[in-house]
Amino acid sequence: MAAPRPLETAQAIKARIWQELERASRDRHHEWRTPVLASIDLAQQPSARTVVLREVNLQEKCFEIYSDRRSPKIAELKQHPGALLHFWSKRLQWQLRVAVKVHVLESGPDVESRWDRLKLTAAARDYLSPHPPGSLMEKPAEPSAEKIAEPSAEKMAGPLLAKGMEPALHKEVDHNFCLVRAGFVEMDWLELNVAGHRRARFSVDEWQWLLP
Ligand SMILES: Cc1cc2nc3c(=O)[nH]c(=O)nc-3n(C[C@H](O)[C@H](O)[C@H](O)COP(=O)(O)O)c2cc1C
Repeated sequence: MAAPRPLETAQAIKARIWQELERASRDRHHEWRTPVLASIDLAQQPSARTVVLREVNLQEKCFEIYSDRRSPKIAELKQHPGALLHFWSKRLQWQLRVAVKVHVLESGPDVESRWDRLKLTAAARDYLSPHPPGSLMEKPAEPSAEKIAEPSAEKMAGPLLAKGMEPALHKEVDHNFCLVRAGFVEMDWLELNVAGHRRARFSVDEWQWLLP
């Protein structure tokens, strides 16, 4: 006989999902730390990219992502705030497709408080370049010794201080950092299991089992 499933009720599954999401925002090794954010671009075409899940607010049911306010996705998200966060965990055998409504914050105390923390890390340089992300480069990108020493996914996922990068360097300069706050709308949860896959769609106050 197949082993009993540890989580049987909708309430228990929901609680575990939020617990794992919150954990992912604090644990850079969690598989849900780097979801894919899918949106609709300015030409009404699908567009997707990996991002780092920086914060999960369990009370307000919202997710926070950091970005450069000049990046194409920011213009896209302002025009089409409806977006989707996609998560897959091999450990949990769970896929989440989270429909969100995005609000981009470019100034104000929430932006400044995050920037105050971020500017002390190597990731700060991503928001200090004079050129917008996606700009054409005049010369081919050649890795500097510093970049070789620092894997890019790590740089984006956590507060590493690169060798020779003084925190003071970032203190008073203008930054292009912005905060993407994604409010939970509903979620499609899929569990792969030899005993039978399970799937449900839920919002804050509804739960609907679906055929996988
Ligand atoms: C592991 C990983 C984490 C990333 N995290 C972020 C992030 O938190 N914010 C961000 O704006 N871009 C992040 N990126 C870069 C984006 O995937 C994307 O390449 C870039 O933001 C440009 O996207 P856009 O042209 O859709 O604006 C990350 C990329 C990788 C590979």
